[in-house]
This record gives sequence, structure tokens and C-alpha cells, in this order.
Amino acid sequence: MALATRPLHPLFGVEILDVDVKRADEATFQQIVAAFNEHSVLLFRGQSLTDGQQIAFSERFGPLEVTIRSINSQARTLPEIANLANVDAEDQIIPKGDRRNLFNAGNQMWHTDSSFKRVPALASLLSGREVPPEGGETQWASLRVAWDRLSPELQAELEGKVAIHSFAYSRGLVGGDLLPPEHAAQVPPVPQAMVRVNPVNGRKGYYVASHACEIVGRPTAEARLLIRELLERATRPDLVYTHRWEAGDLVMWDNRCTLHRGRPWDENRYRRVMHRTTVAGEGPTAPDLPDAVVCPATEDDLAWCRAQLEMVTA
Ligand code: OGA
Ligand code: MN
Repeated sequence: MALATRPLHPLFGVEILDVDVKRADEATFQQIVAAFNEHSVLLFRGQSLTDGQQIAFSERFGPLEVTIRSINSQARTLPEIANLANVDAEDQIIPKGDRRNLFNAGNQMWHTDSSFKRVPALASLLSGREVPPEGGETQWASLRVAWDRLSPELQAELEGKVAIHSFAYSRGLVGGDLLPPEHAAQVPPVPQAMVRVNPVNGRKGYYVASHACEIVGRPTAEARLLIRELLERATRPDLVYTHRWEAGDLVMWDNRCTLHRGRPWDENRYRRVMHRTTVAGEGPTAPDLPDAVVCPATEDDLAWCRAQLEMVTA
């Protein structure tokens, strides 16, 4: 039987109806995989999951990433779970402006998960455990939709290009001292192809994110302008799906061809507890680069970042 679905946005994303992910049989699971390749963002409502159940469903898509422990400051969870919560290990709300919240605030810039790793993530599954009554939405944009809207000249210009993605660069924009040198050393800059192709249906998308800061063979300033332009084109308001969370929602997305970001909420007032599992990618997207040079952020880069993060610096 075909999966019952409902569009999330006219251009991408579907809600999958009537599936309990804990009990999906193999035939249903294969339809979910097909929907994932086709629609890029999948919503499952009413899924109350334990971490173990979330991990078990996620692992059906492939091996999971484990979080780099020393740069994750929230309460302890299983290594396969990225805990995005504004509550600490004692279950107390972490006050606004606290360094630990600031770290998660980096998620409020348009990004794709783990693009700063040599092998970037295939998929992420985010489970809303406790969600605020207002604010705290998550937004997605499709880099395949964005690719299709580029001129053939710009498409040709991007083909074969490699960008450098750096976690230290992007988190440095959010707060100068967020990433001490010993942690930065764990996440050195990496090369990523700027155009990616879905192996199942051949659809192309461009691949940029807040972590992208250089393009191999281009002057830094020019590269950053192009990256910014590509991000802005992809995330025009009419191209964006905004998800208002209900507790029990599970959203799964394709990190190869979407951007996402979190939106602010009243952190002092409302708890927001989200658990993410991340399915690892299959391999590097670009050949090794012996010396990935990343130039420091300029005043202009900082101003651009601040404009996106009104809430963090307010
Ligand atoms: C993530 C992420 C944003 C949010 O889980 O990868 O970026 O809204 N989340 O919590
Ligand atoms: Mn993310």
C-alpha cells in the first residue's frame, strides 16, 4: 500500500501519515526511503520516542554519527544523541545569554549538518520532546529547488568547484571565544563539493552553508560574496518551509540538499528539548586538500552574521 502523505510546502517536503516509526515493516520502510530521496524533508507526527527507539529507527538508514563530546555542553545523553536543550543536567533552564545556549544559537544560521566534517551527514532526525508554545520553529530550504532556479551560466560556474567549510569559522562568527583552540583542532577545515547529485534520481543541488567560508581557487572576499548570495537565493521567504513544533513530532531531512535553521524563542520562559540523531554520509564529497587555508572573518562577515542572529546579540 502506498504511503499516505501531505505536502509541507509546494516545492518540497511531505508529512507521512499513519506510520508509527517504531513499528514500520520493511516494505513501509523502503517507501519512507523513497520519500526521503524524493521530498528531502519528512514529518512524522505523534511519535513519542525514547532515545533507544529513535536510534533504532535512525540506524535503519545507515550508521549514525556520534557527537564530539568535548564540544557539546548540554546534559549527557547516549553518544548517538545530539541533545539540543535549553535545560542543563539538573533539568534547570539555562539562562539566556549563557555560553551553552550561545553555542546552540549557531544553529540559527542557515546550515546543513556536519558539513564541517570530512564526511558530511546524510540525514538528520530531530525529535521534539518538549517544545515552546511560541517561537522555536525550525525552517528548511531546498538546495535542489535553488539549483533549478540558477541561470545555466551560474550552474556551469559552480560545477566542479570545491568550498572549504570550517566549524571554527562559523562558530567564531557567533561568539569570538566559543571554540577554544584545543576544540578547534578536532574540527579542522574540510573541502566539500559545491554541487551534489542524488544517486537515486540524479537531481542536483548546490551545497553551501554557514560553515562555508572559502572557495578553492578564488579570492576570499569574492568567495564569501558568492556563498552568501547562494544562501540568500535558496532561503527567500517563499522558498522556505517553517515548522511549528508539536511535542511528538519527528522531522527527518536530507542534509545533502537542504539547509535548515532554528528560530529564536523566549529561552528564559520556555523549555525546548530536542533530540537529534544523525545518519552518517557515505564518503567524502571532494578529494583531499593538503592545505585548506581559511582566512579570518572580516567586519563585514560579522555584520552579516549578526543580521541573521538578532536574538543572540540583542
Ligand atoms: C539541528 C538543528 C535547529 C532547531 O538539530 O541540527 O539545527 O530548530 N536544529 O533546533
Ligand atoms: Mn542542524
